[in-house]
Amino acid sequence: MLKIWFLRLAAIYFVIGVSFGYAMSVTENFILMPVHAHINLLGWVSMALFGLIYSVWPAAANTRLAKTHFTLYNIGLPIMMSALAIFLLGNKQAAPAIGLGATLVVIGILCFVINLFRQVKA
Ligand code: HEM
Repeated sequence: MLKIWFLRLAAIYFVIGVSFGYAMSVTENFILMPVHAHINLLGWVSMALFGLIYSVWPAAANTRLAKTHFTLYNIGLPIMMSALAIFLLGNKQAAPAIGLGATLVVIGILCFVINLFRQVKA
């Protein structure tokens, strides 16, 4: 189930990411370009890879580390992306929230990497 939710959320981030790209293109306002790039790469590309990796190695999806990875990543990423957008639009007080979201995302990624080394073997 975790792999399905990673893939579904990846697809949703894809829609949001390309919508930002589209909006930037038509308005010729590129201020939110880092949000667009990170939504596409952390949201769409990385999450689709997590879903595919957990599909190929199902044992890796059934661990506490995988659940922690999913939870922290999906709490951290929306916080980080919204705070980054608010920050870029001029509200510098959003900076600590970018750090908070990024911390959750990075801890989630560390869980993923430890899980991968433990569960994915030749
Ligand atoms: C309909 C789809 C998309 C549109 C219309 C679009 C549009 C744009 C635009 C207008 C920029 C700003 C370019 C600049 O000012 O230099 C940009 C930058 C960027 N986009 Fe997209 N994009 C799309 C999809 C994607 C996807 C799928 C990814 C990644 C998987 C992506 C990753 C990036 C990155 C990394 C940058 C920053 C490039 C740099 O720093 O020079 N974009 N995009």
